[in-house]
Amino acid sequence: MRFHPLIAVSALLLAACQSGETPAPAPQASEALKVAPVLAAADAVDIHSFAKPLEARVTHIALDLAVDFAAKRVGGTATLDLQARPGANEIVLDDKGLEIESIVTTDGKPLAYKVGAIDAILGAPLTIQIGTARKIMIRYKSAPDSGALQWLTPEQTAGKKHPYLLSQGQAIENRSWIPTQDSPGVRQTWEAKISVPKPLTAVMSAPRAAEPVAAGGSRTFAFKMDKPVAPYLIAIAVGDLAFRELGPRTGVWTEPAMLDLAAAELADTEKMVAAAEALFGPYQWGRYDMLVLPPSFPFGGMENPTLTFLTPTFIAGDKSLTSLIAHELAHSWSGNLATNATWADFWLNEGMTTYATTRIVEAVYGPKVAAQQIALGIDAMNKAVTENGGPSGADTRLHIDLKGRSPDVGLTDIAYEKGAAFLRTIELAVGRERFDAWLKGWFSRHMFEPVTTSIFLADLRQHLVKGDTKLEATLQLDRWVGQPGIPSNVAPADPQAFAEVDAAVTAFKTGTQPDAASWSRWTTDEKLRFLTRIDQRQPTERLAALDSAFNLARAGNNEVRFAFLTLAVTARYDPAVPALEQFLIMQGRRKFVRPLITALAEDKQWGRPIAARVYAKARPLYHPVTTRDLDKLGLIAGASAPPLTVR
Ligand code: BES
Ligand code: ZN
Repeated sequence: MRFHPLIAVSALLLAACQSGETPAPAPQASEALKVAPVLAAADAVDIHSFAKPLEARVTHIALDLAVDFAAKRVGGTATLDLQARPGANEIVLDDKGLEIESIVTTDGKPLAYKVGAIDAILGAPLTIQIGTARKIMIRYKSAPDSGALQWLTPEQTAGKKHPYLLSQGQAIENRSWIPTQDSPGVRQTWEAKISVPKPLTAVMSAPRAAEPVAAGGSRTFAFKMDKPVAPYLIAIAVGDLAFRELGPRTGVWTEPAMLDLAAAELADTEKMVAAAEALFGPYQWGRYDMLVLPPSFPFGGMENPTLTFLTPTFIAGDKSLTSLIAHELAHSWSGNLATNATWADFWLNEGMTTYATTRIVEAVYGPKVAAQQIALGIDAMNKAVTENGGPSGADTRLHIDLKGRSPDVGLTDIAYEKGAAFLRTIELAVGRERFDAWLKGWFSRHMFEPVTTSIFLADLRQHLVKGDTKLEATLQLDRWVGQPGIPSNVAPADPQAFAEVDAAVTAFKTGTQPDAASWSRWTTDEKLRFLTRIDQRQPTERLAALDSAFNLARAGNNEVRFAFLTLAVTARYDPAVPALEQFLIMQGRRKFVRPLITALAEDKQWGRPIAARVYAKARPLYHPVTTRDLDKLGLIAGASAPPLTVR
């Protein structure tokens, strides 16, 4: 064995598990499991990290950072605990634009290091000559253009008085503010001390470790995550924040001005946690709190452990968009316990979570709501197949090839909805009872571990199929994960899920608009079914009639508004332009702004001037992960991601 004993033990454990034997307890096993195994198989190698974790790996990070709003930097030290195979002299970390001042051992001895050639997607390898050191301290600062961090001015917050900092780590952004091995298969425990100017509060994706300590003009907050997590799950936000309890282990953080609205919208959270535990096994993270961010947050939600990050655009006033919470909560099992080992396995995170979401929704809101959300998901899946090259398109595979590409390209409804459809297909074939038992077992067998698509298939075969050749033939497992398109055995959507709305869609084709009574009775999902099922290219008169009857361009529900504005852009419907502009300037959720601005920009005559005008105004609100894509449209002269320079 040429690996370090600890790593060898984990590899053995894993191999034993896969072959179904009970591993003999080894003396170092508990130590190895504390940091979770590093998978040694070829398909577990993460092509989006420079790390060589089988040589030397980070097991624990201790951050001691100050937040400097004026300079748009976090800076201080990161102390890393390492494991290395005997004889290993160096460790490779991931670095995107970090300004490194020094790297030393615990007794202050400087260590030689080198930042290698920069890759536009990945950043650069940071190779450190560790010799025999197994704890090192890096003194550094993040760059003002860090891809994970967004610095908001007071005007960009709800309270308008204080600045705000937020981070987004997934997929490979955290290397722009934390010097570590930024690979989901290299789990690390971590702790942090964060100094922020008074009166601001820092929150992170970990329990608080101590009361804040005030000194001079700042306060220092302490956090500790004692469970090993994938490093993309380390997150921070700093702002004028208040907290309100929602239940015994749930609560919400947000700006004081947002607290009442946020708490009311999130009132079902505790029920969701209980429903999720009944389905997937005990919740492993202690508290489930949420942070409702300013509207520039680039995603709907992000499953940061113990503290889900949320866009405020899910607040509709009627809890109609709270399946978002069910989704982020479900990641507490699928994603945060059993974690995709590489970004090619992303469907394991999101497909399982999308499946799990509708199960939570069914338990809390009933089977009809769940059936409708599944039907919307099947439509989204089919649309994603079309958008990704049709049934033979390579990117319609669940396990995709990301060579030379950013993990971001895998963020499609193939991963989410084809992944969920795959699991529903298995459920349908074996029955709910058997499927649920397997699913619970999957989470408990892979708790705090990275998982690959092949581990998933092996686990299914060992614990569910169990040699049943007829079942194996019915399931088409390899076809589902490895082949493009949607296999013929896909579990269908309930054709009756939207019976009434579907009749209204048919009637609309022949000129009849839904009446006001129906529209106001319809749920958000029903309205969305209508707006996404009617012909997407409508004459402007028909949009005008819909808009004047139901006030869609300014709908209070942002998903409904987005669906209508999408139709408006396709139809070049001028009267919606002021509302469109306002929508693109008041929030920066990438799922909303990217398709609208892209569609506008591609319509050279009508849309592009609108896109250019709006993007110039909106850009300062958008997070770097959003502007990185939109800048490529060339709408603003000179606005492109600042080049990465060797520092
Ligand atoms: N983990 C994702 C967000 C993500 C994925 C960020 C990949 C960066 C890279 C999160 O759980 C998610 O899926 N959010 C969705 C919401 C959901 C209800 C589908 C979103 O942001 O829209
Ligand atoms: Zn998700």
